[in-house]
Formats: sequence, C-alpha cells, structure tokens
Amino acid sequence: MHPDSRSISRFFQGLAEVCPVGQLEHFHLIHWPTEPPSPLDPLREAGFRGRVVVARASLADAIRREHPGVELVLDDHPTAGAMAGHILMELPQGRLASSLAIDAALAALRDEESRLWLFGNRESGILAVAKGYTGVETALCKGHLRLLSLSKASRLHPEKSATRSFRPDADGFASLTVSGLRVALRPGIFSWQAIDPATLLLLEAIREHPGRRLLDWGCGSGFLGAALAARYPDLRVVLSDDLVTATNCARRTVEWNGLAERCEVITEDGIGRNLERLRFDVIVTNPPAHRGVRSNHDATLAFLASAAGVLHPGGVLWLVGNRGLDYGALLRPRFGQVEERDGDDAFTVWRGVKTREKHVASGRGRARDGQWLEPHGDDPAFRERMNAWGRGS
Ligand SMILES: C[S@@+](CC[C@H](N)C(=O)[O-])C[C@H]1O[C@@H](n2cnc3c(N)ncnc32)[C@H](O)[C@@H]1O
Repeated sequence: MHPDSRSISRFFQGLAEVCPVGQLEHFHLIHWPTEPPSPLDPLREAGFRGRVVVARASLADAIRREHPGVELVLDDHPTAGAMAGHILMELPQGRLASSLAIDAALAALRDEESRLWLFGNRESGILAVAKGYTGVETALCKGHLRLLSLSKASRLHPEKSATRSFRPDADGFASLTVSGLRVALRPGIFSWQAIDPATLLLLEAIREHPGRRLLDWGCGSGFLGAALAARYPDLRVVLSDDLVTATNCARRTVEWNGLAERCEVITEDGIGRNLERLRFDVIVTNPPAHRGVRSNHDATLAFLASAAGVLHPGGVLWLVGNRGLDYGALLRPRFGQVEERDGDDAFTVWRGVKTREKHVASGRGRARDGQWLEPHGDDPAFRERMNAWGRGS
C-alpha cells in the first residue's frame, strides 16, 4: 500500500529530527510520485539547501514547477557523479538496482564521517536492505516508511553479493543479443534480464511498412524501436522514455547496432515539450502499467489523450497490453478503425488509426506544427537535428 499523504509528511518531518538535513548535499529521487505532498517541503523547511538529483523527467518537471529555486539535475547516479558528505536517497525498485545504487552512493561518500540516508517503504524492499548490509542502522520507522543510515564502510553481506547476477561492461551495461540485435540493459529498467514477451508479440504483429517516421514511446532498453529501424532501412525513429536509466540503455542499443544516424533518444514525460513538436507516421508502445513497484496507469492515460496529436493524418498507433486491460475502450474515442491485431493468452496487440473525425471529436484537432523551441539539455547538435525533424527534412 502506498503511504498516504499524512504519513509521508509525518515521515519527512520526523526525518528532519534524526538526520542532519542542513548538511545533505544530494537528495536522490527515482520513482517517487509527482503529486503532493512533495518531500521537499518539509526538508526545505528543515534547512535542506542541497542538490536534487532525479532519475525521471516527470519528477524533474514537477520539482521545477513547484520548487523553482532548487538546484536540480536529471541523472540516475545518486549524486550525478559528485563526492558528498551526506546523501539522502530513495531506495530504487528491485534487489539488484538497489544494491547498485547503494554501492554507487557509498562510493560517493567523502569520508568516514559521511552518511548515506536511505528511505523507502516496505514493498520497495527496505527491510531486506536493513538486514543485507553491514553497519546499517534504522534511524526512523513511521508507518510503512523506513529511514536507514549507512556509512562509507557499510557493505552488502558477502553471501548476498555472491548471488549478484549482473555482469556489466566497463560502462555499466549488460548486453543481450535478440534477433541479431545487441540490446543494452541495466537493472532498474523494465524487463532488464530478457525481452518482454509482449514486446516480441508487438514486433511480430507489425508487418506493414511503418512509413518514414516512427515513435517508440516508453522505449525502455530501446529494443523495439531499434529492431524496427534495423528491419526498415528508410525509417527514422525517435525513442523516448521518462526514466534516465532506460534512455541511457536505448542510446547504447542504437549505437551498438549502428543505428544512431537514424535514431534519436529523448528523456521526456509522456508527450512533452520535445515530442509535441514532432509528427510521426507510426507510434509503437508497450505502455507503462506501473510506477516503481506500484500499479499506475496515469502516464499511459495521459499519453493516449495526446498521442493522436503527434501522428500525421492516417497515422497508426500500435499498442500491446495485458489481455485483462481493455485498451480498446481507451483507444476508440480517439482513434478510428481500432482493432485487436494479434494476441495470446496473456497479451493483446491493438492497432488504431488517426482519423479526422475522431481526432476533431476528441478535441485535439488543432495540434501545432512548429519549431523546436526547447533544447534537450544544452546540446546544440540535438536542437539542430530536432529542428530538422520539425521542418520535415
Ligand atoms: C512496459 S515498459 C516497456 C519498455 C520497452 N518498450 C519494452 O518493450 O521493453 C514501459 C516503459 O514506459 C516508461 N514510462 C513510464 N512512465 C513514462 C512516462 N511518463 N513517459 C514516458 N515513458 C514512461 C517506463 O520507464 C518503461 O520503460
């Protein structure tokens, strides 16, 4: 169960009593919900003036909106690579992703006096961390939330580290070869040990030429978009995901397969200020049904409300989802010719077409074509490439 607003507020107020909030240099958030209450309110009241490092574009957007003065970085390393005295960090989802993030944070602690303050709720596995590391103390326990404190000398117990199955390359990526494609993976992204069967089903179902421009929305490792770019040599692909770890993997996947010239990777929440300026012939997606460990369809609902706006007239949306979820009911008000194209016992592949009547009727008929205004980071080359997309070249 997700802790309610009151217990979140109480937890972060309590945290300020046991942790030197004024000395925290980095506060790392990964899957934390974007809706209030923000943990930053009680932390800032208690004197937090450090840097916030977030692993999701949606969190960066929410913090920029609600706390405009805060120093903010979008990165999946707990301190974005800096050394630190005290770090406060949300426990990531999954045993391996957690232990990698904890290792990275411990390595970033400056000296023996430094502390890593780790928080999470019971379903995120915080109790296992409390048992699995040496030199760990439980500093706060309120409702489902726990705060642990670790020192630079803390280590995963040897018998636990022996079972770690992640063997990354020097840049921190594992690789998997599927259908002749080398895919980059890291713990923390969706289905990081194998390509998801729903994704494979969707790839198999797409047998018509997808046109010139394709969006792989919620791209994860980048497998789907890269596989389609490899299958159709005249196709240009944008791969986009909210999670930095996913877009880091997707970028590596397109590079490893010699597809970087025709593939662009964007870290963005839904259809945001970058994607909304582009137009596609096809969108493919295996959309998110979770945020962290919790079931959550908000991102998919928001995406489906605006997806037709970035399709050319006659453009096609391909979506694969759990058989138990009626995506057809969500697609029919906004897309024409909605049909189940393929499926098995577990998943259904849906196909819908952007038709004029449905698009205008759903109130999205005046999607703007325009220039690429917001640079992605500070990369002028990215801005130029995206302006070229906007001009249709
Ligand atoms: C079910 S996974 C599919 C991943 C990948 N396409 C695959 O098939 O392996 C859904 C993906 O959506 C991403 N996602 C979640 N919320 C998002 C959002 N608001 N905007 C964009 N992507 C999001 C997740 O990080 C995840 O990578």
